[in-house]
Amino acid sequence: MRKLRRFNAEELAPYQWTFEASGRRKPPVSQDEQGVAPPPAPKPIDWTGLFGNANPVEIEVGMGKGLFLLTSAVGRPDTNFFGIEIVRKYQLYATSRFKVRELPNAKTACADAFAVFRRFVPTASVQAVHVYFPDPWWKSRHKKRRVFTPAFAAEAARIVRPGGRLLLATDVEEYFGVMTAIVRAMPAFRELRAVTSTGSIEEAGYETNFERKARQKGTPVWRAEFERTAEPITEVTDPAG
Ligand SMILES: C[S@@+](CC[C@H](N)C(=O)[O-])C[C@H]1O[C@@H](n2cnc3c(N)ncnc32)[C@H](O)[C@@H]1O
Repeated sequence: MRKLRRFNAEELAPYQWTFEASGRRKPPVSQDEQGVAPPPAPKPIDWTGLFGNANPVEIEVGMGKGLFLLTSAVGRPDTNFFGIEIVRKYQLYATSRFKVRELPNAKTACADAFAVFRRFVPTASVQAVHVYFPDPWWKSRHKKRRVFTPAFAAEAARIVRPGGRLLLATDVEEYFGVMTAIVRAMPAFRELRAVTSTGSIEEAGYETNFERKARQKGTPVWRAEFERTAEPITEVTDPAG
């Protein structure tokens, strides 16, 4: 991994959202009859408070080193970008890139994206969810670790506002089939496009680090874009079994 300037926690703090800082409340004073305090209620993310403006918010799940978010935040300063990455070293790497450029509209969290969606992201509060090159977990016994499941898609439908977008890309055809089968079965989403591109880096360019690797190898890339409808959310049966 290319070396980046190291920043201390205080320097990176404006570019990070942490559960401890934002979500944990002091234990309630009163306790129940067993003397056990109920667990603290999660505090939903206040996007306006976090970014200091009411611009639309887009989330990337598993941003890795953050190339897509970096390019997007620089190119679209009137949109706020929030990246959720489960591996600390990548989250720190991406956060440091945003700090180097002092980007006011890019922030990250180190966490499981599904847990952040479910516990902290308010309903209909985001404009788009991007899921690019999610880990395929090739072995059958590991597939349950995949981030994109029917429950994840239902959470994405809950947090994206009507008219907002769910965008997917991968170089794994089978996983693309699973993700699109899940979303196509949900009335809460309407397909806008699904494309396969075999273009080289020179022809097609790349938006993420993994897309760059796929283009260099000549591997096809599958993409789909869905619009959130006003229909209710349904959780479909997992086509992956
Ligand atoms: C194959 S990499 C793709 C990175 C980037 N999106 C790209 O296209 O270059 C998948 C990333 O998703 C992250 N990831 C996996 N499961 C996750 C989860 N449940 N929540 C957040 N990030 C996750 C991994 O740590 C990894 O950085």
